[in-house]
Amino acid sequence: MTAATATTADTFRPALHYATRNTWLNDPNGLIFHEGLYHLYYQNNPLDNVWGNMSWGHATSPDLVTWTEHPVAIACDDDEDIFSGSIVFDRDNTSGFGTDSAPPLVAVYTSAFKPGSRHAGLQAQSLAYSRDGGYTWTKHSANPVLSRGSAEFRDPKVIRYDGGAGSYWVMVAVEATDFQVVLYKSDDLRAWEPLSTFGPANATGGVWECPDLFPLPVDGDPGNLKWVLTVNLNPGGPNNGSAGQYFVGDFDGTTFTSATTVTEGHQDPARLGEYQWLDWGRDYYAAVSFSDAPDNRRLMIAWMNNWEYANQIPTSPWRSPMTLAREVSLRTVDGRPRLIQQATGDFEAISGAGQSFTLAATELSDCTRVLDGAAGSVQRIEATFTPGNAQEFGLIVRGNGAHGTRIGIRPVPGTLHVDRRTSGRTDFHPSFPSIDTAPIRTINGSYKLTIYVDRCSVEIFAQDGQVTMTELIFPAPTSTDVAVYALGGTATVSSLDITRYA
Ligand code: FRU
Repeated sequence: MTAATATTADTFRPALHYATRNTWLNDPNGLIFHEGLYHLYYQNNPLDNVWGNMSWGHATSPDLVTWTEHPVAIACDDDEDIFSGSIVFDRDNTSGFGTDSAPPLVAVYTSAFKPGSRHAGLQAQSLAYSRDGGYTWTKHSANPVLSRGSAEFRDPKVIRYDGGAGSYWVMVAVEATDFQVVLYKSDDLRAWEPLSTFGPANATGGVWECPDLFPLPVDGDPGNLKWVLTVNLNPGGPNNGSAGQYFVGDFDGTTFTSATTVTEGHQDPARLGEYQWLDWGRDYYAAVSFSDAPDNRRLMIAWMNNWEYANQIPTSPWRSPMTLAREVSLRTVDGRPRLIQQATGDFEAISGAGQSFTLAATELSDCTRVLDGAAGSVQRIEATFTPGNAQEFGLIVRGNGAHGTRIGIRPVPGTLHVDRRTSGRTDFHPSFPSIDTAPIRTINGSYKLTIYVDRCSVEIFAQDGQVTMTELIFPAPTSTDVAVYALGGTATVSSLDITRYA
């Protein structure tokens, strides 16, 4: 096999998001800020643009927006595929893979052992180390370092715990088909001892994958730290297929205790809407956070695709973008801690950034209005709507006549939706053309949407990041109109600002 080559114009290649040159990617792996750069490793097929030959690809960015692709970091071999995992900077050289004066980066990844291997049928955790700041990697000679004799034990995220119980490495990983997060501790990254397990809880409609565990201050108060446990699941998301959920609670160095569990054990399908989702859209999966991000920020990136149709999306020669980086924080909403998410990165680093369009307050009455001068395919749209008596109102992006991606709000029953049935190419998979919904309520009588449109995607941050929806779209390059609309009555666009990039 050779890497795919371009056959059609690459009109879906994003400007603000990372995509490989000409290969397949899925989960972000080993996210770390190190020596002034954000390192993004990822599940990669170096030889093709469909899933297979799983290895860790690698890209770096100074600004989370402009990325440089590097050679494959950790490659599969005859014995193992390199599944998802994480990287830590072992600053005290606890692993001994570096020296005290030149401490190493250590990758903890899942070895998915192949049929010919002496570990055939197992998934177990392995190490690789880099002594050159993350560009070249050596597999540890005594891999795997942690096996449970399981075929579904994967996706280790390692963090440094410094708290009341001491100072050591903590690994969260999953027993995927048991809906369990398993926690281990280590002093040297090589020898691991079990701490506890978490789950099943809340959504268990698919396998659990790619967990993460991190502390955040509530409402910015450093004296009130809570721990967030994120768990991706596939399928079983709120709008079908792949999605991520989170729990908020405490971690005492041994056990994570959730304060936001709605159902213990297996899920109650009727309560899916009550679980806490990282994103309500179809294309936000395997989300994981950076280690060592500057200023204690908690930054996450997800794979922008859905296993339902991932291998069929019509991009070429590459397949699958990452999402934008998001800064997450915890805010008390209705008495409960909620994750608030904002896109982050230096968008001005994109050439052509900064042209703008503004619409003065406008009342809409049962109409669709294409906005002259607002057209674009790479843009940030900030819109505030005040409801009147319309049943539905919102925006159409990447539009052309009656076609486009509809981002609508229905005050009753209180939903935000993305309707991508006429968003462009939808014929590559029967489950792609969909209307997907998330719950939304007014804040001070209005609805505020921040929408990033980037050639093949929309990422929506509603109500200052309380609700997010991320969806792929595949419009014709000529579909660039932006319209506002109200159906069956009135609604006011109180403000609308567009920044165009590229
Ligand atoms: C999630 C996942 C992980 C696994 C990887 C394999 O998308 O299934 O659980 O490590 O992808 O590519």
